[in-house]
Amino acid sequence: MKILSIETSCDETSVAIVEDGRKILTNRIYSQIPIHQKYGGVVPEIASRNHVTKLPYIIDEALAETGLTLKDIDAIGVANGPGLVGALLIGLSAAKAMAYSLDIPLIGVHHIEGHIAANFLQFPELAPPFLTLVVSGGHSHLVLVKDYETFEVLGKTRDDAAGEAFDKVSRVLGLGYPGGPAIDKAAKNGNASAIPFPRAFLDKDRFDFSFSGLKSAVLNYLNGKKMKNEPIVVNDVAASFQTAVVDVLVAKTIACAKSINMKTICIAGGVSANSLLREKMTAAANDEGFTLYYPEPILCTDNAAMIGSMAYYNYVNRGESGLNLNAMPGLKI
Ligand code: KG4
Ligand code: ZN
Repeated sequence: MKILSIETSCDETSVAIVEDGRKILTNRIYSQIPIHQKYGGVVPEIASRNHVTKLPYIIDEALAETGLTLKDIDAIGVANGPGLVGALLIGLSAAKAMAYSLDIPLIGVHHIEGHIAANFLQFPELAPPFLTLVVSGGHSHLVLVKDYETFEVLGKTRDDAAGEAFDKVSRVLGLGYPGGPAIDKAAKNGNASAIPFPRAFLDKDRFDFSFSGLKSAVLNYLNGKKMKNEPIVVNDVAASFQTAVVDVLVAKTIACAKSINMKTICIAGGVSANSLLREKMTAAANDEGFTLYYPEPILCTDNAAMIGSMAYYNYVNRGESGLNLNAMPGLKI
């Protein structure tokens, strides 16, 4: 089954064609990052307008790259939430028009479930059950994937998402948007133990996260330095902040896996591209004898292939969505 999938929930306009949920035939990603960079973050209306102008061309490119025509497509998958409502509506409207005119099923996909499914694209042997740490710009969730359609949230952030913390700290450090890759890069030349930023482990036997205290600690540190007219070593702040985030993510994920006796772990979402998170999670998983999966970086950040994978499993388990599918900016997992 060949699914043409569309992802427009934020600032990536992406179209993929995925076969049977596992094989990427094409995964075209047009990133709007350079457009939003000068504003220091995503401007929703500008994102929507760019989706409108770019999406038709990216659909054509995806078909041209595979040599397929619309007649070869069996269904249309689309991320219908969570995300920016205007941005989601562009992808959803295009998906509905295609499904209706081609008389093929329309399949709505939860964007975060899509992030988890990115691992299915890369690892043919991976099958539920497993525990996933999903860390993106809007989410920091520990999700037990019981089967292809049953997801249980075992922990989540009580305030900022991990990616949001990276983006905010990057902005105050003057490293720009998006913050995650910028901090990842700066941290490589910094001393991770230079500044003892706090780690919020919260209740020991709960698996929730909190990153707002850490964010405030970075701000207070920078303000204190400025007041005393002392130099700020940006790379050290980046490295110390990044380590504080990663320490908590790794410790909570491992503790959660142990508590439910789960030996298979995945990480997913934009922050799972972080080099230190990948390194420390690999070491911790090895120590515990757990099997760890994470996708290549291009499949960690937003892309339509992950939506195409999840669309397949949604279709097999629940059937099509119907043309009254709506954009759900606050869709819960
Ligand atoms: O999954 P994603 O592309 O979009 C959302 O669904 O939010 O995640 C974007 C987030 C941004 O906050 C970005 O700064 C972060 O992922 N990110 C990273 C890295 N690459 C992207 N965070 C840390 N290290 C990275 N290498
Ligand atoms: Zn995402």
